[in-house]
Amino acid sequence: MEEKRPTPQEALELLHEYNESDSLRKHAYAVEGVMRYIGRKRGEDEEKWGMIGLIHDLDYEKFPDHHCTQTGEILRQHRWPEEYIRAALSHGWGICSDLMPQTTLEKVLYAIDELTGLVVTTALIRPSKSVLDVQVKSVKNKWKDKRFAAGVDRSVIEKGAEMLHVGLDELIDDTIKGMQEVAEAIGLRGNPT
Ligand SMILES: [Fe+2]
Ligand SMILES: [Fe+2]
Repeated sequence: MEEKRPTPQEALELLHEYNESDSLRKHAYAVEGVMRYIGRKRGEDEEKWGMIGLIHDLDYEKFPDHHCTQTGEILRQHRWPEEYIRAALSHGWGICSDLMPQTTLEKVLYAIDELTGLVVTTALIRPSKSVLDVQVKSVKNKWKDKRFAAGVDRSVIEKGAEMLHVGLDELIDDTIKGMQEVAEAIGLRGNPT
């Protein structure tokens, strides 16, 4: 079947069809926001970067035991380009897929997926509960505290930064800024001081 570039509207509809959970949707918007931000900063196809970020965990709600594999199936049914599918699946390299991130887009997605979780938790412990108040140093301060955002695997983020030849500070800064652009959608506008 012939491939067809999806539109952002189609990507969003697909997300809503497969993800009813508010937290999964917010995670998708956060990753989309960061992908758009970094894609734009690098002069890449921002819209494409955003769509791949948006649907990277598409199957997680309905097929948690077949994460990544089912996303591939669903996207193929919708005739998404193989390039997009490969990119989405490579975020789970070593966990639910054996596709190693190769392109810059894939490496960025791999590096920032877990990092968005760390930024969320950092925002939520601020009095304002706002991502607009999060700074690189507040995220760095919690890096070695294993009990803080315990589910976030720091080693994956570090591996991603290494693959990109980007420093952790820059990666954290970009992630915060990308999430700030979608603060409202991810429920982290809070009451900035
Ligand atoms: Fe995932
Ligand atoms: Fe994710």
